[in-house]
Amino acid sequence: MKELIVGVTSGIALYKVVDLVSSLKDKFNITVIMTEHATKLINQKVFEKASGNKVATKLFRKGFDYKKYLKLMEIKHISLADKADLILIAPTTANTIAKLANGIADDLLTTTVLATKADVILCPSMNVNMWDNKLTQSNLKKLKQTNFHIIEPEYGKLACGYKGKGRLANIKSIEEYTLNLAKEQNSLKNKSILITAGATSEEIDPVRIITNRSSGKMGIAIADEAHRRGAKVTLIRANTTVDPSYSYKDIQVRSAADMFKAVKNSIKSDIMIHTAAVSDFTINKKTKKLSSKNNINLELTPTTKILEKVKKLNPSIFLIGFKAEYRQTKTNLIKKSREKIKLAKADLIVANDISKKGAGFSTDNNEVYIISKNTEEFLPLQSKTDIAKKILEKCAQ
Ligand SMILES: Cc1cc2nc3c(=O)[nH]c(=O)nc-3n(C[C@H](O)[C@H](O)[C@H](O)COP(=O)(O)O)c2cc1C
Repeated sequence: MKELIVGVTSGIALYKVVDLVSSLKDKFNITVIMTEHATKLINQKVFEKASGNKVATKLFRKGFDYKKYLKLMEIKHISLADKADLILIAPTTANTIAKLANGIADDLLTTTVLATKADVILCPSMNVNMWDNKLTQSNLKKLKQTNFHIIEPEYGKLACGYKGKGRLANIKSIEEYTLNLAKEQNSLKNKSILITAGATSEEIDPVRIITNRSSGKMGIAIADEAHRRGAKVTLIRANTTVDPSYSYKDIQVRSAADMFKAVKNSIKSDIMIHTAAVSDFTINKKTKKLSSKNNINLELTPTTKILEKVKKLNPSIFLIGFKAEYRQTKTNLIKKSREKIKLAKADLIVANDISKKGAGFSTDNNEVYIISKNTEEFLPLQSKTDIAKKILEKCAQ
């Protein structure tokens, strides 16, 4: 059974969470952590009854003795953070949102969240003015960017008498979201996945390089998401502008040839997603820095097309390639992708037109087509994390 930590903070909607805990009890082993203020609004025994387990509230136990802790090496917030598969905080007060967004860890709940690698779902609920406050909104934005899941509150009549956005989301939809996320976490369990990302570079001389504008954000979003879904991830990346959010096998390379060598070493994977923008050409590197006084003609020679080699090396790998085109019609984009599918025996090609505003290289969003031999699916402009989720759903089928 999966381990779920339910954090209960001192929002007035905490009464509704008792039923939520009761109905999640059959699906998870639940530990409830209440903030000190939450215990003023409701007796912790109510949550003990609902969860079937003792409620945790304190960072330091009564009569704390550091010598005992050193001997046992069992520190509550760390063991809770480690054992959790999922943390659901409902309701989440504006105060706890602000603390989490700023890495503050001054009670058992916030310290556990700071120490966990598990997915964390927040269910904000508060007075409409607290919700609209720019500080709350900027804290939420920060948390979204740090991979927290936010279930937004609803519009309606609030406990404080106001009308507006701030009501805790419907309990059934919080339950559904939690169950879906738990299911998603296992969707790639026991699968090994190889992901390439970023821009390779070719050396002209010891100082200069030829490269491209790829940031690696798409590939790293896929690698992070695959890790979250339980896959054994190998990331091979070149010159990315971002780093992975989790720790998995992370191999850094420079040139197209280095990337191909690293791919061959991990070719026994179940799935490969090749997002890297690999240099199409290489140069005979000059060992000395070229003088800038004269004209220089560079002779470029084509590099190995990694995508086209993969199925030859491992015919059973599920292969997804990426295709970046510039100012192409939809028909052309699909036609070119199908040619690529044929050539590389790829299972899917994710194609995008990098001339589109707000999509493609370096941006946080993308707009793509997922193309197979016979089907095409358009994903309108959305975050690279959401695109990553949709691509990985295809691998779990
Ligand atoms: C009766 C009562 C109801 C409250 N309801 C909310 C609420 O719904 N949302 C919220 O953000 N704060 C609410 N607060 C304020 C929080 O309890 C307060 O900011 C507290 O410091 C939060 O602590 P915690 O985040 O550690 O639980 C309420 C306070 C009281 C006294």
